[in-house]
Parts: sequence; structure tokens; C-alpha cells
Amino acid sequence: MERVACDPVSSPEMEFLPSEIEYVSYGGEHHLPLIMSLVDDELSEPYSIFTYRYFVYLWPNLTFLAFHRGKCVGTVVCKMGEHRNTFRGYIAMLVVIKPYRGKGIATELVTRSIHVMMESGCEEVTLEAEVTNKGALALYGRLGFIRAKRLFRYYLNGVDAFRLKLMFPRPEVPLPLLPNRSETNYTISESQTGYSA
Ligand SMILES: CC(C)(COP(=O)(O)OP(=O)(O)OC[C@H]1O[C@@H](n2cnc3c(N)ncnc32)[C@H](O)[C@@H]1OP(=O)(O)O)[C@@H](O)C(=O)NCCC(=O)NCCS
Repeated sequence: MERVACDPVSSPEMEFLPSEIEYVSYGGEHHLPLIMSLVDDELSEPYSIFTYRYFVYLWPNLTFLAFHRGKCVGTVVCKMGEHRNTFRGYIAMLVVIKPYRGKGIATELVTRSIHVMMESGCEEVTLEAEVTNKGALALYGRLGFIRAKRLFRYYLNGVDAFRLKLMFPRPEVPLPLLPNRSETNYTISESQTGYSA
């Protein structure tokens, strides 16, 4: 298997096999400082320990950590629940430390959470990302997320956010239950427009 070199500026000698990255779901209190340290260093929004506990205690199966040789190098923190008649997942935090970026670790972390959400019956997944965060927007775009809304000055730092949304395909409705086509109001879906403010 091909070895991938890490960012040469931050970590000149570091290289690793993708198979050396171990992915685990939240395993208890010993994981909490690891998650907090990564998120506090890399995300602009400040979170209190109560916020972290809210997520990891209620949805431990939706938080994943990536380790390389015992060092935590990435994490994703999520939740799911009822929201306006839908059951939806929400990605709250995603971080991969700089020397390990660009190797698919965030994609793997997010994909694992999304699979749990799908298996749990979620119809969609949402999150917010700063409109200036090209990396995150590209990552989520590749995973099929669309820009559903622009949220003015959403963050404490005054930056706008995009609300991103991934819709899961609905189970097929049996034909006899479908309304008469002429009576149906067909609208252009967000996935067709790409963006709706
Ligand atoms: C965003 C972040 C999580 C991406 O982590 P990562 O492990 O490097 O992401 P991946 O390697 O899985 O990237 C997958 C794809 O996303 C896109 N992408 C990721 N980072 C990118 C960047 N800086 N610029 C452009 N595209 C980027 C690319 O399309 C990439 O695929 P490719 O490498 O085949 O081109 C990481 O840069 C990070 O922790 N940033 C700081 C915290 C943050 O912004 N979190 C998101 C909050 S919404």
C-alpha cells in the first residue's frame, strides 16, 4: 500500500500508511480532552465543556476520533434528533490537525458519522460552515452536500455561514399512494438549484 507523506513544512520526517490511521467512536471521558484540544485549537467558535459533554454523552456513537500511533489527529462530533417533522443528523465539529490534512481523514470521519445517521433513520444531515472556509466547503461538496442557506453573521467572529445539507434518498412510495400528477405542485429541489437563500 502506498505511503503518504504529511505536510513537509509542519512535519518534515512524517509519513504514514492510510491503514496506520485508527478510527474509533467515542469511548469515554479519556477522549474528551483530546477532542476539546483539537477543536479549541482549530475552530473559531469557542465551546464550553458543557457543549462538548452535551454531544458526546448523548450521541457517543456519532463522535469519532482518528489516531496515528496513539496520537489523536482528527475528530468529528455530531448529534441527531427530530427537527420540524424530520429526523436529521447534525455535524457540529470537524477537525484534522495540519500535518495530517489532505489525506482523506476528515472524509473518513464524516462518512462514518453519516453511516450511523443513515442506519438510525435520519432523512438528512446538516451543518454550518464559514463562507470563507474553502477546505470544508470543498470537502462537504464532494460528499454531496448542497448550500441550503446563507446565514448572516452567524459566527461570533462576524463571518457569515452556509448551512449545508445532505438529503438521503427517500424509500420509494408505492405508486397507488402517489397523488394525481396534475394536482401536484412540483418545485425545483435545492439540489437542482445548488443554493437557495
Ligand atoms: C476541513 C478539514 C477538516 C479537512 O480535513 P482533511 O482531512 O484534510 O480533509 P480530506 O483529506 O478528507 O479532504 C477531502 C477533500 O476535501 C477537499 N479539501 C479538503 N481540504 C481542502 C483545502 N484546504 N482546500 C481545498 N479543498 C480541500 C478536497 O476536495 C479533498 O479531496 P482531495 O484531497 O482529493 O482533493 C481540515 O482542513 C481542518 O481541520 N480544518 C480546520 C477546521 C475546520 O475548518 N473544520 C470544518 C468546520 S465546518
